[in-house]
Amino acid sequence: MKHLMAVDSELFDLALMEADRIETTLDLIAAESHAHPAVMEALGSVFTTKTTEGYPGRRFHAGCVHADTVETLAVERCKALFGAEHANVQPHSGTSANLAVYFSVLDVGDKILSMDLSAGGHLSHGHRASVTSRCFRFEHYGVDAKSECIDYEDVRRRAKAFGPKMIVAGASSYPRLIDYGKMAKIAKEVSAYFFVDMAHLAGLVAAGVIPSPVPHSDFVSFSCYKTLMGGRGGVILCRDPFARKVDSAIFPGCQGTAAVNFIAAKAVAFKLAQTEEFRRIQRLTLENAVNLAAALEEKRYRIVTGGTDNHQVLMDLSGQGVSGATAETVLESVGIVANRNVIPGDAGRAGQVSGLRLGTSAVAARKMERPEMDRIADLICRTIENRGQGKMLSAVESDVCDLCRAFPVYSVWQKNDTMPVGR
Ligand SMILES: Cc1ncc(COP(=O)(O)O)c(C=O)c1O
Repeated sequence: MKHLMAVDSELFDLALMEADRIETTLDLIAAESHAHPAVMEALGSVFTTKTTEGYPGRRFHAGCVHADTVETLAVERCKALFGAEHANVQPHSGTSANLAVYFSVLDVGDKILSMDLSAGGHLSHGHRASVTSRCFRFEHYGVDAKSECIDYEDVRRRAKAFGPKMIVAGASSYPRLIDYGKMAKIAKEVSAYFFVDMAHLAGLVAAGVIPSPVPHSDFVSFSCYKTLMGGRGGVILCRDPFARKVDSAIFPGCQGTAAVNFIAAKAVAFKLAQTEEFRRIQRLTLENAVNLAAALEEKRYRIVTGGTDNHQVLMDLSGQGVSGATAETVLESVGIVANRNVIPGDAGRAGQVSGLRLGTSAVAARKMERPEMDRIADLICRTIENRGQGKMLSAVESDVCDLCRAFPVYSVWQKNDTMPVGR
């Protein structure tokens, strides 16, 4: 960081402040975790400067000898980690990965069946605000009103009536396991491709903590920065017969030059994901989510679906008379970050939804365990119930800071390396 300090002290100071924010904030954002310092070093490495198009051995620029090795390493590690036949590690994001999966085997106007955003799906699964909805004809399935879980019979009925060319499984906020076998069977019955977006779940899947969609699907995509704890960017896995189509849908179809530094960071993340340390963090992520949900329920907060099978806990705040947005704001004021989220059957508008989505990936990376989940549940409830009461909130803020200081982020991995950035 010494060069950044010399060239741009404003940016340098911001990086220091961000590092401090991370250390002193309880991060319950379900879509993030803390990348290993080795991942960050790869992201900021000399590979940032290499311009290259195409794939290893088939590049459009010279000088790719090491870039080729980096990408091959990332691909091979990724395939081994997930037991996939083919991996494309070039997507700049999960959204780009999804777009490329659609365009790999579909034509503009083709039909896709996916989960509705209001039930937990993602924008890139055909939401009207996403370009995906302008390219393809989407129909959506939701969740059962009572169980708040996917109703596979309903998916089957819709698939038969709609006749999609592709069925998408996967979500941004769905705390239960998806039965990939059942979804694949439905896709087969209607001769549709089966695509799983496991953006949120990749780390849990890599560690074998929850079932993998890979054996059931034609395509799988994920982002690397959520439970996988890697850098930014996405990945596509697919069966061998789709490999060429996926590769050309990414380049030149949807993207230009590859981000070799991103790919290097992915390679590091895939290596780390094969360690016992990583598997421990993923087991802890799952246990923490289950325990956090139980602790909140004990305090009479309703948890959507009554619990969780992954890293997400979705709180329904409608009984507390507070919106998800207000809860998000007051929690951030005491150093707890989480995000407002729509819940099944939500009456609120997008900004005023009734849900709060929590995730335990980042606190597991800090090695927080069950006692800390009880404390976190207590801190959340005290904050929501005492909103508007400055003195009470100051006491919570101080408790949050104490808890965070007891579980430093970057010294978790490297005893001698206390900060992700340093002078
Ligand atoms: C299910 C799902 N797919 C795709 C994405 C998009 O990933 P990215 O932010 O890398 O574009 C997300 C992001 O939250 C997601 O939850």
